[in-house]
Parts: sequence; C-alpha cells; structure tokens
Amino acid sequence: MLEMLTQFEMLAYILAGLLFILALAGLSQQKTANRGNKFGICGMALALVAVIVVTLAGNAEIAAQTAGLMVVGIAIGAAIGVWRAVKVQMTEMPQLVAMLHQFVGLAAVLVGFNSFFIEPGGHFQGAMNAYHLGEVGLAIFIGAVTFTGSIVAFLKLSAKISGKPLMIPGRNAINAIMVLVCLACIGWLINTTGVEAGLVPLIIITVVSLVLGAHLVLAIGGGDMPVVVSMLNSYSGWAAAMAGFTLGNDLLIITGSLVGSSGAYLSYIMCKGMNRSFASVILGGFGDGATAGGGEQKDYGTHTEITAEETAAALKAAKTVVITPGYGMAVAQAQFPVADLTRKLKERGVDVKFGIHPVAGRMPGHMNVLLAEAKVPYDAVFEMDEINDDFGEVDEVLVIGANDTVNPSALTEPGSPIAGMPVLKVWEANHVIAFKRSMGNAGYAGVVNPLFYNDNTDMLLGDAKGSVEAIIAAL
Ligand code: TAP
Repeated sequence: MLEMLTQFEMLAYILAGLLFILALAGLSQQKTANRGNKFGICGMALALVAVIVVTLAGNAEIAAQTAGLMVVGIAIGAAIGVWRAVKVQMTEMPQLVAMLHQFVGLAAVLVGFNSFFIEPGGHFQGAMNAYHLGEVGLAIFIGAVTFTGSIVAFLKLSAKISGKPLMIPGRNAINAIMVLVCLACIGWLINTTGVEAGLVPLIIITVVSLVLGAHLVLAIGGGDMPVVVSMLNSYSGWAAAMAGFTLGNDLLIITGSLVGSSGAYLSYIMCKGMNRSFASVILGGFGDGATAGGGEQKDYGTHTEITAEETAAALKAAKTVVITPGYGMAVAQAQFPVADLTRKLKERGVDVKFGIHPVAGRMPGHMNVLLAEAKVPYDAVFEMDEINDDFGEVDEVLVIGANDTVNPSALTEPGSPIAGMPVLKVWEANHVIAFKRSMGNAGYAGVVNPLFYNDNTDMLLGDAKGSVEAIIAAL
C-alpha cells in the first residue's frame, strides 16, 4: 500500500510539473494563453489531490484529525479566490497579484517555523542538522522579505499609502547591513542544536528580514512598482522552493523554481523595455518627481487638432492603419469601441494592425489582455519588433492613449529620462492621430512628447472611449 502511494505521488508530481511547464509555455503567447491557463489549473488540481490523498491515506491518525480541517480550509480559500477573481477590475490586477504574493511569503515563514519546532535537531544530527536549519533560515529570510515587501507593494499600488519613494540617507548601506545580519544569523543558526539555542538567531532573522522587505519596496517609486511586483513574484517562487526543501516536497521545489526563474526573467524583460537597469530599480528612487519630468523642456511649437468626423474621413481613405494603444486606452476602457472600429474598417477593406510596445500600459501584456478581452483577432496584433520597420508604409496611425511608448525624444534626446528606451516609430507614417484628454498632461515618465507637435500629427482631444465611439458614429 505504502509503495503504491509513493508511486502515485511520484507520478502525480511529474505530471503536475509537466502541466506547469506547459502552462508557462502557453502563457508566452496570446493565442495559446487560454490553453496555458487550463494546463495550470489542471496541474494545480492534480497537485492538491495528490498531496491530500497521500497525506490522508499514508497516516490514518492524521487523516482522522485533519481531513475535516483540510476540506474547510480549501473551501474557504477557494471561495475567497473565486470572489476576488470575479470582482477584480483589470486596472486592479497588479495590486491583486501583490496581495497574493504576501500569502506565499507568509506560508514560507510559517512552514519554516513549523519545521524548526518539529525538527530542531532532535531528528537530524551533525551535517544533516546544519543543512536542515540552513533551509529553515533561508526559507524564513526569503519568505519574510516577500511578505512585507508585497504588503507595501499592495498598499502603494492601491494608493493606500503614497507612491513616492522613501529616500532615507544611506538606505543602500542600511539594506546591505540588514542582508549581512541575516546571513550571519543563518550561519549562527546552523551551528545550534535544540529549540532554545536556535530560536534567538531565528527571531533576529525574521524581524530583520520583515523590516528589510518593507524598506526595500518603500524606497521604490510608484512607476517602478510593476517591475517590483514581478520581482516579488520571483521571490515568492524561491520562498516556495525553499519551503519545498524544508517539507521534502519535490513538486513545491519544481513549482517554486518555475515561478522564481520566470518571475526573474519577466523582471529582466520589463527593465529592458523601459531601458532601466535591474539594479537601478532595486536601489529605488525613480518616480520621485525629481527624475520624472527631468531633462530639458524644449519648445516644440504648436499642435493641430482634428475632429472625430475628420478622423473617420481619413480612415475611410486609408489603405493601411496601425493602432498603437497605451495606458490611456486602459483608463478609458476604450478597447471595446476600438475592437468595433477595427471590425468596421476591415469590412471596408482597410488593413488594420495593432502595434504593441512591451511596456505599454502598467503591467506586462496589459494591452494584449485588453485586446483579447474585446476579441480583437490575434493575427492583427504585432509586437513592437515585428512592426517597427513598417511604419513608413502606413497611411494612418492611431495613437490611442499612448505617450512615452511613442515618444521620439527617447531616440533623439540623450538627456531625456527615457533616453535609450526603444519606442514605436509611429512618426514615420504618412499621418498620425493622437488621442489624449488634454495637451497639459505628460505620460508616465513626465516628459513632453514632441510627436504631438509634428506636422504630420493631429490631436484628437477627449476621453479615448468617447472619441472612438464618435468616429464609429461618423463612419
Ligand atoms: P503613458 O506614457 O503612461 O501615457 C498615457 C497617455 O494616455 C497620456 O498621454 C494620457 O494623457 C493618456 N490618457 C490617459 N487617460 C486617457 C483617457 N481616458 N482617454 C484618452 N487618453 C488618456 O502610456 P504608455 O505609452 O502606455 O507608456 C507606459 C509607461 O508606463 C511607460 O513609460 C512605461 O515605462 C511605464 N511603465 C510600464 C510598465 C509596464 S510593465 N507596462 C510598468 C511600469 C511603468 P492625458 O492624461 O492628457 O489624457
């Protein structure tokens, strides 16, 4: 019986691990994202069933005591999860993700303490004891940093505390000292035996890493928060992997490592898209008003405006149209009329494509998710690199609520805060129509966009949703 259970557990873990890998592979493309999600759900369901069956069937005493508790816990967790997932707005997604990471961090801390109190050297001897306590110390360190870091990220993103970076003098040195204290205490911990001796370094590790997590994220400006959320996602994966070592659970090690490495890679892609170094994000400070809006403010001349009726006429006459959406499309929730406009233009034989900048909006894949929600066909949606050399042959570009991601000064003004950031070269098109509410506001980086003052650019001022609906009416 025991052998059968072990074989079932191994098989289920391998299958679940494969399903998680297929889920990640699916999520890498919009076309296959739905399938990827389903693989992930199946993998998680299989993992849960395997853990419950093995735990209950393997020990009748535990089964009698905990079966009911497990069912109640899962039911409450599932109900809260479904309720939040149904209720959450697309724009609240980053804070929801941040909130979920704190649970992973907290779970790693609790698993670490649990394992410490159950096995404080009683079972393990010598090197095994040191190895076990090292795992516990690391799990608590990473888990506690993730826990408080995610709480602060959640509070900042939901505007419950200020998004301004907290710039304590010498903050990087303070962080470095806190990391060193934690590492020294892990060294102290692995040389102890018994609860009493180990508890002191363990409590120091916990307290210091809780402060470290909060301080690290408090120092980061509101604008860099999406990168921080993806970084915390990575930390939560490593925390789960550490918990997997502590619990001797292979699947948790596999899953944690997948989350940890994919989160780290996503942070890297986001930093590259924003032309920020990973270190500069971690060291914090960006978005404090001193950096945003920096650079020389030049006089770019006057802008010209266009009406919805004139835009409709220009679109009717066009053969090729490229739409480059940005954060403003998300704010206006204009994706549905934009999809409608796309259908109407395609019916008239106009070739309509979308050009998506990797950091358009406020979270990775923000635009892709909105367009998929509005059922824009996947084959009309192109990544920046796929479309950026073709703007010269485009008749009309509709810049819908995008600003920094289409700002030519990123390429022409070395002193600009966004200098070096790759941008969509929309200005190379025959004609550009830019949608925004007023000329007064800048984009996320706080810099003026000379595109809006170009001879071949006209501004369609007003809420993007209303503007697109007016164009459809005029068509
Ligand atoms: P932004 O530069 O943020 O500009 C948004 C534009 O939308 C503004 O011109 C704004 O002008 C307009 N807008 C806002 N609400 C609108 C509405 N209801 N109707 C019409 N227009 C509206 O947008 P972007 O080009 O998408 O660039 C994204 C920025 O965020 C980049 O700087 C990027 O580095 C940063 N960022 C992105 C991420 C990720 S992962 N996507 C993460 C962190 C930071 P008005 O206010 O005048 O309307």
